[in-house]
Amino acid sequence: MMFWRSVVVKLWFTILLLVSFVLFILTILLLEFFENNHVDEAENDLNQLATKIAAIMEDYDDKSLGTSIAWELADDVTQVLIIEDSDTYWYSPNRESSENLPISYFLEDPKLSRVLSHDEKVSEKRYFTDADLQVYYPDQMFIVGAPLHITEDKKGAVFLYQSLNVVQETSKRTTSFIWLAAGVAIVLTTIFAFFLLSRITSPLRIMREAALEVARGKFDRKVPILTNDEIGELATAFNQMGRQLKYNINALNQEKEQLSSILSSMADGVITLNRDGTILITNPPAERFLQAWYYQQGMNNGASEELPHEVKELFQKAVSFESEQIVEISFQGRSWVILMSPLYNQTYIRGAVAVLRDMTEERRLDKLRKDFIANVSHELRTPIAMLQGYSEAIIDDIASSDEEKKEIAQVIYDESLRMGRLVNELLDLARMEAGHISLNLEIVEIEPLVDRIVRKFQGLAKEKQISLSCSKNGILGTLNLDPDRIEQVLTNLIDNAIRHTEEGGNVTLKVVSTQSGLQFDVQDSGSGIPEEDLPFVFERFYKADKARTRGRSGTGLGLAIAKNIVDAHQGDISVHSKINEGTTFSFFIPRKNG
Ligand SMILES: Nc1ncnc2c1ncn2[C@@H]1O[C@H](COP(=O)(O)OP(=O)(O)OP(=O)(O)O)[C@@H](O)[C@H]1O
Ligand SMILES: [Mg+2]
Repeated sequence: MMFWRSVVVKLWFTILLLVSFVLFILTILLLEFFENNHVDEAENDLNQLATKIAAIMEDYDDKSLGTSIAWELADDVTQVLIIEDSDTYWYSPNRESSENLPISYFLEDPKLSRVLSHDEKVSEKRYFTDADLQVYYPDQMFIVGAPLHITEDKKGAVFLYQSLNVVQETSKRTTSFIWLAAGVAIVLTTIFAFFLLSRITSPLRIMREAALEVARGKFDRKVPILTNDEIGELATAFNQMGRQLKYNINALNQEKEQLSSILSSMADGVITLNRDGTILITNPPAERFLQAWYYQQGMNNGASEELPHEVKELFQKAVSFESEQIVEISFQGRSWVILMSPLYNQTYIRGAVAVLRDMTEERRLDKLRKDFIANVSHELRTPIAMLQGYSEAIIDDIASSDEEKKEIAQVIYDESLRMGRLVNELLDLARMEAGHISLNLEIVEIEPLVDRIVRKFQGLAKEKQISLSCSKNGILGTLNLDPDRIEQVLTNLIDNAIRHTEEGGNVTLKVVSTQSGLQFDVQDSGSGIPEEDLPFVFERFYKADKARTRGRSGTGLGLAIAKNIVDAHQGDISVHSKINEGTTFSFFIPRKNG
């Protein structure tokens, strides 16, 4: 099968067919021509011979000499009959006399007798098959006649006849020569055509192999340019095509890589879906989103390429309304905003692309802001209400004695102080959180600082019957810090400790000096902080006392400020607490800070 489909074989076969056809026609024509030619030549020869014999017979008076010359002139295959008149005639002696045609045949035949009667030359082809002839010639015969006048009054003739076989014999030889030549021509054509075609197709075969290799991705494959003809041009074009392909593929790859690196380095998740909602492409954030969802759904892994139903719905909407859709979903403690836009393929929608943005942080900040406002207004509402109430009491002259008036004024004063402090602390915190905290760093002797602070609280502690002690470990020496700020931190911690410790309890400030810095521990034996609240104590407005009863608690900003100050010193603050046993706040200030 393969063999017949090859171009070489096809062309070869066509050429062979064409050559054979042409040779066949040529041979037929040649044969025709040669045969006619031979017959004509033989006829001519016979005619000339007849005329010559007639002339000899007329010239020679001695008939026996004349006839013998005539017999000499005629060859073996030619029969000669010389008729002087109907009684005198001679047959050439090269046949048995029984094989000779009878004289009557010539004299009676209407056509042949015209030589005698009308002095005409005759030449004819015929079969001597008349039943009355006693001789039988199987072949077609050639017969010519020329008039002969030996004397004026005698009308004679010379007849020559010959079997056409002789001519045909010559024709046959010519034919076989022609056939031989045709055969040789065909064989040579075959061989030459085969070689020529192989030469033409071999570069084509090489090109085919090269094309297959290029299809397999080997764009470097070059085809040798062997000739200067169309095939050479084809090879050049092929090489050019390979180069262009390589260039284009490289460009495509680059584009693809660029796209995929953009996708994978995007902070937002991207999911591309085809028309029936199957996931085509995802990037790492989108992968995390899907994994979280699978986890939530109790699917063990992401092998199931399923979409969360909210996303599926969004996709359906985007495709059917042909417009962007947006939704926010939250699970596993994170909130995601999903923006689904239809993907167009020139005219129709071929899918959609979903951009997932993790909005957790924004939502947290939002909540923080709302909480902050709620807290601030809550903190302000109580003192303002008190100010209003008490000042109203003064205006309405409710207080009867001076004593009472003083008391009311004291409350008003206390509350306004409290409000002022709250506002100041808020401002402080806001400035610190905005990064505007400016530390007045100086080399400070630690021991006197600590002693002073502890002394400051001794009065309060005594009042509440709490023992306040201080223990120092190692040589404290000096440290580069902002003494006022650190005092603020310690003040708040000790104040908190005293405030949350019952009578008879104790509060200890431990200062430990290490190679790397100073560790401050404020330990009390007070009420402690519930375990679940521990992560939030450093947040603004945190108060363990949820009822926010007045008196014991302050504004809830102290620890947030303390954390900011310690952070500004590149330090670290932490808390350990057990309910009803006590609380320890520890902070560490490194020696090398700023
Ligand atoms: N040593 C402690 N023992 C028990 N609870 C504490 C202790 N220290 C702090 N707390 C809890 O942490 C909360 C926050 O303390 P923080 O110092 O930030 O605010 P505050 O003392 O209430 O107000 P401020 O310090 O602004 O006057 C307190 O209300 C209290 O409930
Ligand atoms: Mg406090």
